[in-house]
Amino acid sequence: MPRTVIVSNRLPIKVQRTEDNLTFQSSEGGLATGLGSIYRADGNVWVGWPGLYVQDESEEEYVRAQLAEDSMAPVFLTESEIRDYYEGFSNGTLWPTFHYFAQLAVYDDALWQAYVAVNEKFCKAVLAQTGPEDTIWVHDYQLLLLPEMLRKARPNATIGFFLHIPFPSYELIRVLPWRDELLRGMLGADLIGFHTFGYMRHFLSAVSQLLGLANHNGQIETPTRTVLVDAFPMGIDHARYAEVAASAAAQAHVSEYREALREVRVILSIDRLDYTKGIAQRLRAFELLLQRYPEWRSQVSLLMVVVPSRDQVAQYASLKEEIDELVGRINAQYRTISWNPVHYFYRSFPLDELAALYSMAEVAMVTPMRDGMNLVAKEFVASKADQRGVLILSERAGAARELSDALIVNPTDTGQLAEALHEALVMPEEEQITRMANMQALVRQYDIFAWTKLFMDRLAYAKTQQLSLATS
Ligand code: F6P
Repeated sequence: MPRTVIVSNRLPIKVQRTEDNLTFQSSEGGLATGLGSIYRADGNVWVGWPGLYVQDESEEEYVRAQLAEDSMAPVFLTESEIRDYYEGFSNGTLWPTFHYFAQLAVYDDALWQAYVAVNEKFCKAVLAQTGPEDTIWVHDYQLLLLPEMLRKARPNATIGFFLHIPFPSYELIRVLPWRDELLRGMLGADLIGFHTFGYMRHFLSAVSQLLGLANHNGQIETPTRTVLVDAFPMGIDHARYAEVAASAAAQAHVSEYREALREVRVILSIDRLDYTKGIAQRLRAFELLLQRYPEWRSQVSLLMVVVPSRDQVAQYASLKEEIDELVGRINAQYRTISWNPVHYFYRSFPLDELAALYSMAEVAMVTPMRDGMNLVAKEFVASKADQRGVLILSERAGAARELSDALIVNPTDTGQLAEALHEALVMPEEEQITRMANMQALVRQYDIFAWTKLFMDRLAYAKTQQLSLATS
């Protein structure tokens, strides 16, 4: 029976070394939930990096055996591979370029070579798990070359690819010295998925201008095959977020936080540490709100959670310093003995505490400079049982295409952001409820399970089309 193999840079599990043993902790991530029913089905498997440097072969075998019990197969990466392929080419070249921060991108052939080599390593690992007729679903920018590598080895396999970050304008892509190889790598798939039609259009334009391949309604004819391109906006597990937010554990946290904050209203900001997220601009906008509308002083606090991420990449470390400084400055200037303007947390939170923050916040500020989708926006919406609360959302997050009932802002316009904060804080309850109900209906309907099914169904369709073309 044909199998399905999921491939991503990281496995949906965290393997960590403690003093005398290894711990295995499943990821709560949306992708892992959505794909759970697929990779855990009989004989299927998820291939990826377990996030740990193994010390010797016996440890490697032990990790492999443990992961196999949960339908996962590890690709072990060395410290230099992580430095050059993950921190280097993936997060030092592709990430800034695809998020329109081209000035931060490094162009270094040694990093490119590492990227090619690690994609080959993933290819070998996937081939070891698959037969000629299997279905393979490859995820994200760390593995752009993998579909073509797999296609060469398995010409008849059904291969899907989904990009979780934006696909930028041709003008950005054309700057990359390895642009043709990257596009050809993706074209090894039968179906290529993006979060929005905008990203899909940029991809089709790049393929046409750089490779000379035209498309008809998102169908690209390569010399040997047809490739389908489509938009699949990713969702979350709405039911789970709604359930956790309403749980006794989360509500106990809400009471505890409320008691500590008393009557002060809460603007929430939750992100991974990343320059694409607009965290510093958000702090400046909050500062401007306090300047323009002094009546909010002592009445509202910004609760800012920044989750540590990629701290070995230089720009991330300097962003952390900038945020520390800004928070310090705002708090030093405005705080009183009984009121703290910014409550800043540099760590991750367990799901029930996160749900408590979503549930209690009057306003969520989700204002990235660029973001493929942004699931925080959807998590906030799903957690609002009483439908009160206002979402301020960047026009440059993929989610803005769907969540048009949010207050949509240009995240670089600090003045507009400060005004949106004020508008959110004075918005009548009735309007909050109407907007939130509309957004909830959408997030509930297009959840992570619907997303997975849509992609898999379309992939099966793409393959049948290939076969009928091949035999006609
Ligand atoms: O948004 C892209 C993404 O790769 C997500 O899939 C992932 O959760 C996040 O960035 C963090 O990635 P990592 O910690 O693996 O670099």
